[in-house]
Amino acid sequence: LLSKAFKNQFVIPEFAHFTKQIRGIYNHCKNIDTGKVASYIPQLARYDPKLFAVSICTVDGQRFSLGDVEMPFTMQSSSKPFTYAVCLNQLGRDIVHNYVGQEPSGRMFNELTLDNNNKPHNPLLNSGAIMSAAILLYLVNPEMKMSEKFDFVSDYIKRIAGGEFLSFNNSVFLSERETADRNYALTYYMNENKCFPKGFNLQDCLDFYFQTCSMEVNCDSMAVMGATLANGGVCPITNEEVLKPESVRDVLSLMHSCGMYNYSGQFAFNVGLPSKSGVSGSLVLVVPNVMGIGLWSPPLDSLGNTVRGVQFAKEFVKLFNFHRF
Ligand code: DON
Repeated sequence: LLSKAFKNQFVIPEFAHFTKQIRGIYNHCKNIDTGKVASYIPQLARYDPKLFAVSICTVDGQRFSLGDVEMPFTMQSSSKPFTYAVCLNQLGRDIVHNYVGQEPSGRMFNELTLDNNNKPHNPLLNSGAIMSAAILLYLVNPEMKMSEKFDFVSDYIKRIAGGEFLSFNNSVFLSERETADRNYALTYYMNENKCFPKGFNLQDCLDFYFQTCSMEVNCDSMAVMGATLANGGVCPITNEEVLKPESVRDVLSLMHSCGMYNYSGQFAFNVGLPSKSGVSGSLVLVVPNVMGIGLWSPPLDSLGNTVRGVQFAKEFVKLFNFHRF
């Protein structure tokens, strides 16, 4: 970091000026008061709708944070690109995509539907993420017990986050499991269609999916996770190559086309950056080769995306022209 600073070789050379502009967007988005905090489990419903955090980590490790950046929240669906990344990194895309497709479904994230090949449409939907859980349990180091597999995957995700905050929220996990009729239905449906790898156990697989949704991060650690993706799999904080560049490319491709539920097409059109949102109000946004951005604010729009996070992303690309095209 220091030698780059002396040579003025940072990817964002005028960082102080940049952060001033980010603060402007943040203050603007903070005033928005639309959206509804998820209420399907009490642990999510309790969050104050005013909470709003933005955190930035560049590929050369410059950091900037605003708002409630240290408050923990569960990753929910923003864990999906990362469990998929671990699958790819361990097994390669050919094996992984025997079980899951690459198409946006055009349907709700939890709809009972499979693609023309009888696979989940993509790994960022519930069905596809339940498949990632199955792949991790039954194809990646299958000799490991559930407890060891949990450690293995959370350690991977923690390294993607540069060793920064990653925890587990047991009450969210228990509540998710109690409120999961649709996920059970999806899993039975996929099992009926012979989607799963050999060794599949329905309860173990769903538990593992709920556990990955219940992993806790904060906005700062989520920004580092995004930055590791922006940096081709090398964590900018630790310099460890956690993910192979080819795994990262596949993850970013699908985040670009499928990361924002039924808003993915419009987000790709208007913002033009790979991203993934979750029902906790999280949004990880990646500017490839430049930075990862963590956004967190619990109120959601009707499609399930964080209202302030989406608005921030729109104003951000308007100001800096980071749209990929
Ligand atoms: O699987 C579920 O229903 C919850 N854990 C929701 C996760 C989420 O963020 C919405 N999904 N795509």
